[in-house]
Amino acid sequence: MAVSATLAINQLTAERLAAGRPVLPLGFGEAGLPVHPDLVAALRVAAASGSSGGYGPVTGLPALREAAAGYWRRRCLPTTAGQVIAGPGSKPLLYAVLRASVGGVALPRPSWVTYAAQAQLLGREVHHVPTLDGQGGVPDPDLLDAAAASASAAGRPIGLVVLTLPDNPTGTLAGSGTIRSVADVARRHDLLIVSDEIYRDLVHDPVREFLSPAELAPERTVVTTGLSKNLALGGWRIGVARMPEGPLGDRLGAEVAAVASEVWSSPANPVQQAAAWAFEEPEQLTERIAASRSLHARVAGAVADRFAAAGASVHPPTAAFYLYPDFSAYADLLAERWSVRTGTELANLLLDSFDVATLPGAAFGDPDERLSLRIATSMLYGEGEQREKALTAADPVELPWVADRLDQLSAALGRLFDRG
Ligand SMILES: Cc1ncc(COP(=O)(O)O)c(C=O)c1O
Repeated sequence: MAVSATLAINQLTAERLAAGRPVLPLGFGEAGLPVHPDLVAALRVAAASGSSGGYGPVTGLPALREAAAGYWRRRCLPTTAGQVIAGPGSKPLLYAVLRASVGGVALPRPSWVTYAAQAQLLGREVHHVPTLDGQGGVPDPDLLDAAAASASAAGRPIGLVVLTLPDNPTGTLAGSGTIRSVADVARRHDLLIVSDEIYRDLVHDPVREFLSPAELAPERTVVTTGLSKNLALGGWRIGVARMPEGPLGDRLGAEVAAVASEVWSSPANPVQQAAAWAFEEPEQLTERIAASRSLHARVAGAVADRFAAAGASVHPPTAAFYLYPDFSAYADLLAERWSVRTGTELANLLLDSFDVATLPGAAFGDPDERLSLRIATSMLYGEGEQREKALTAADPVELPWVADRLDQLSAALGRLFDRG
């Protein structure tokens, strides 16, 4: 297996920037924002506390598990601390849940790079099921139904479906009707649902309805989340999983804890203590998340406009800091002018000849003939103090370093189509 495409593009971008190339960093999905100073203070206090050197319980500190349960209770999901397992990021928790489940793995197409890679690590069969247009992160319920039926008929049943709510790579949120239908399909075929809700707090419209499948099928839904995106704490490595209620949840929880005990023992103790405070949602952190949400919405929207102006087909992003433009309408022109026939060739051309780092849709399970790209917009906020300023700016796209990067993008896209 190769290093994850998202981490690899980050490394490549950093190397090219260090070599003096003016690379526009649209490849890596990191939140790109400073850590809130009160979180830094909480971590400092926690590290200095007498107990911080201890491993602590495998499933996480009781205070963190209780705080995460409260976070979910405030979101219409009745949760006890006993249902919560903390881990060093939601990624290893997803892996442990996948390992504890059985059967084939149904994934939305496109979907986040890691799900298919983790299934591959575990030797599990992957079924990529297309999403409905504009509703990324959730397989089309009818197609999922058909895939589950034919896998069962072939004697290799699907056991689990992963949903991403809201979605990376498309920056969209599936509607509640679609979630209801998928929950029905999951019941009918006895599928475990894994609902990755790490971007939940970054839906651009904070009053938009958010329906978790755990509200509809609590007996069979695992929910994962973390602080990597809403509070930009990816490097702190902390995530939580909410096990289903009842016997299935008890069994899964025990198996995830067994993996945890043999692989990571427990998440970093001081980080857990600070995370417990964050999951209580103190006002200053809620305000920080609201400011981040507005910033992501404004910049992702502006980047989408630039792609649309260049002729790409793109759904306006409604969550997080991603968009998924598609250049398939320009297939002939790209083949003739640049000998580009796949999304991978398009991403390579953009990086090598135009200094624009992106990821091809193929990294997210799309057929490479589809000329789609996953664009992450959060690295446009700049570095250091620029990021602080981006968070508080009345209009972040007016900031010179953001505006310059947007213009760099438009110029590159213009040259791609020979309009520059
Ligand atoms: C959909 C999705 N889930 C999970 C993660 C990883 O989260 P964590 O930092 O909690 O491991 C990411 C990070 O890119 C993501 O995009």
